[in-house]
Amino acid sequence: MTRVVKFGTVLDQLPPDVTMYEVGPRDGLQNESRMVPTDDKVKLIDALSETGLRAIEITSFVNPKWIPQLADGSEVAQRIVRKPGIVYSALVPNEKGAVGAVDAGVDEIHTVVSASESHNLANVNMTIAESLVKLGAVAEVARRAGVPVVSGISCSFGCPFEGDVPLAHLESVVARLVDLGARGIGLADTTGMANPAQVGRVLARLVPRFPGVEWTLHTHDTRAMAIPNILAAMEYGVTHFDASIGGLGGCPFAPGASGNVCTEDLIHCLHAMGVETGVDLDALIETSKRVQEIVGRGLPGQLVKAGKWDRRYPLPDGVRERIPARA
Ligand code: COA
Ligand code: ZN
Repeated sequence: MTRVVKFGTVLDQLPPDVTMYEVGPRDGLQNESRMVPTDDKVKLIDALSETGLRAIEITSFVNPKWIPQLADGSEVAQRIVRKPGIVYSALVPNEKGAVGAVDAGVDEIHTVVSASESHNLANVNMTIAESLVKLGAVAEVARRAGVPVVSGISCSFGCPFEGDVPLAHLESVVARLVDLGARGIGLADTTGMANPAQVGRVLARLVPRFPGVEWTLHTHDTRAMAIPNILAAMEYGVTHFDASIGGLGGCPFAPGASGNVCTEDLIHCLHAMGVETGVDLDALIETSKRVQEIVGRGLPGQLVKAGKWDRRYPLPDGVRERIPARA
């Protein structure tokens, strides 16, 4: 099959600035087998707050029997130092979670439902229809408290149990969430199944149909396609991206899931292309090193190992003298 490739479209139209949403304290730490002490979580979030990030998902309010790693969500929310201008959010699946999040004073509620019935049952023990009823109650709690809602949709680009997720089906879930008053929609590639062409196809259909929605792409780098997918999404005007420091993360209820796109690796790529994020990359790299100590293991992020693109090495002996003079 012959394909006509139009060169220069994506990279000619990069936005001047994008918003990075740090989800490591939630999507990352929920998946660590070792329990991270509350003190370390608070220190991590406080360190992230000093890097110039504009938004941080700090925890979730879910059944602690399902995710014991984040059972201290209220305490974390109360103890962190809130830096003015930063949006601190939490993930909730139902009304009980929404009440917990509002009581803890979060700035934004993130809801979760899957585009796949199997994954939704595995993740939140409900059918999609049941989840949407619960998210109606969440919307009501949020509306009364004046807290905006951003609704994430897991497995938007495919499901590790079911495979393909029909676009018409995804669209119907988006429509219900928008009806419930979601200010933003997060399309989540929970297990790294999306490819850039697919991301383009999905956004080409959804973006014009839901004007006024703020779109976020939530990626996992399971198959090394996260950054290409993000570039594809930028072509369709998406400027909000979830990422996790060091590439922490994964979904405990999706087999094969691994970490989110690594925040510092993504920011490094964006800055190198002239796309600003407001983040101090050096401060973020230092924080990422501390995260490895906190979780007690190396993380997938590449930048911490390789250094930034402008890192230079000393020449081997005898080479300098042999470099021909430039004409
Ligand atoms: N926060 C804390 N506790 C909660 C809760 C919440 N948001 N929602 C329910 N519970 C408690 C109930 O109070 C009840 O407690 P009890 O056993 O002491 O009476 C218990 O959980 C069971 O309630 P039920 O409504 O039957 O929930 P469930 O067991 O069917 O689980 C969810 C449903 C959604 C609460 C659960 O599947 C869950 O928390 N999933 C989160 C998964 C997740 O975070 N995945 C990763 C992020 S994508
Ligand atoms: Zn995720």
